Amino acid sequence: MPGYAIVGMQWGDEGKGKIVDFLTRQADLVVRHQGGNNAGHTLVVEGKQTILHLIPSGILHESTVCIIGNGTVIDPGVLIKELDIVEEAMGSLEGRLKISPCAHVILPYHKQLDGAQEKFRGNRKIGTTGRGIGPSYADKADRIGIRMGDLVDEAAFADALRGTLEYKNAVLTKLFEDDPIDYDAVYTEYKGYADRLRPYIADGVPLVHEAIAADKCIVYEGAQGTMLDLDHGTYPYVTSSTAIAGGVCAGAGVGPNAVQHIIGIVKAYTTRVGEGPFPTELTCETGEKLRKQGHEFGATTGRPRRCGWLDAVQLKRAVQLNGTTHIALTKADVLSDFEELKICTGYKINGDMTSEFPWNATALDSVEPVYETMPGWNSDLTTCRAWDELPEAAVNYFNRIEELLGAPIAILSVGPGREETINKTNLINA
Ligand code: GDP
Ligand code: IMO
Ligand code: MG
Repeated sequence: MPGYAIVGMQWGDEGKGKIVDFLTRQADLVVRHQGGNNAGHTLVVEGKQTILHLIPSGILHESTVCIIGNGTVIDPGVLIKELDIVEEAMGSLEGRLKISPCAHVILPYHKQLDGAQEKFRGNRKIGTTGRGIGPSYADKADRIGIRMGDLVDEAAFADALRGTLEYKNAVLTKLFEDDPIDYDAVYTEYKGYADRLRPYIADGVPLVHEAIAADKCIVYEGAQGTMLDLDHGTYPYVTSSTAIAGGVCAGAGVGPNAVQHIIGIVKAYTTRVGEGPFPTELTCETGEKLRKQGHEFGATTGRPRRCGWLDAVQLKRAVQLNGTTHIALTKADVLSDFEELKICTGYKINGDMTSEFPWNATALDSVEPVYETMPGWNSDLTTCRAWDELPEAAVNYFNRIEELLGAPIAILSVGPGREETINKTNLINA
């Protein structure tokens, strides 16, 4: 049975969590392969909302095994809070949740440095989530990171922390004139975390390969989105991991041939949290209306999300970068109350038209979007459960998206709930 990569096609918050939960009905294993608790993935099951930051979004299905892969960065305190909530609702996750020993640990100095660096950047700040993500991935690349496998080994952790903290305190105090971090306090706090998390630590690589060999159905859950990818996003206004589908291989420990279907999650309009270019951003009443109708406030930081029309130029780039085979179009219901809808089909930069997405943030800043206008449908979609129940104007809008992106819509989401979903193509045959 094939592997399915779930990838955000815009700037995050496309509804990846909801679609992973929806597909997990038919999945045996869900692997989260990058990012940390900068992510906020929302699931709504029988009216109950659960926001997951680190635990894979398949966890609410009782027979599914979930792995937090080696490519992630983990704040153990946050993970434990999440674990407590899910275990209270579902019972112990031991045996069902596995945490890779190679995932990197977020420590207090990462969070402190995240804040200090943002302050240092001044008006060039990125608008990070402040969760220590960038500094933690930087340490990984710098080979001074501490991994989950070290955390649960008392002697290894004591040694690694002592060495690293000396260096980090020098940076914090001498460069940023910030307060130093106390070794004993961090050691004691993190030792407590290690004791709670030790039973869940397991190398994910053999587990994934056993599942592949047994022809199991595997969903690889991405966090963030294509435009926040470290290499291909709107650098430097990006996150610090590989958020495109290619990140599955390194972050889960599989070869490219482990993934057959790449499901690009596309919100029916565009949002972005934090700083950086956003060609179709609407700072007018229409943007405000999208924010209000779509409840566009961050699931992690609560910040209002910037809103704008769908951007086919950006999305075509995302189809290329991910090798998107299918689209899951989400939040279609949010557009129900608009007389007309716009899709950006070209960019004007310094008077010249282009249909190519520019590689640099400066060019993106000066983009004048060129729009195609389509009639809205003025009716509620939330009760539709089949494609042929959709109003004609809505079908025309969705068909146009398929045509512009060159990829078929397999799933249409018409509300936050698990059941508010139209399975146009039964991607996973149970
Ligand atoms: P993720 O980070 O990609 O998992 O997305 P988030 O959970 O951060 O943000 C998506 C938000 O939209 C959440 O509040 C979801 O409950 C909600 N949502 C997901 N799909 C739909 C949909 O089709 N319609 C509506 N109205 N809300 C949706
Ligand atoms: P999910 O998985 C939306 C954004 C931040 C900031 C930039 C860098 O829920 O879609 P970081 O803390 O990662 O160094 O911040 O990336 N960002 C997200 N925006 N959804 C996310 O995750 C995000 N994770 C990070 O707002 O602009
Ligand atoms: Mg989110």
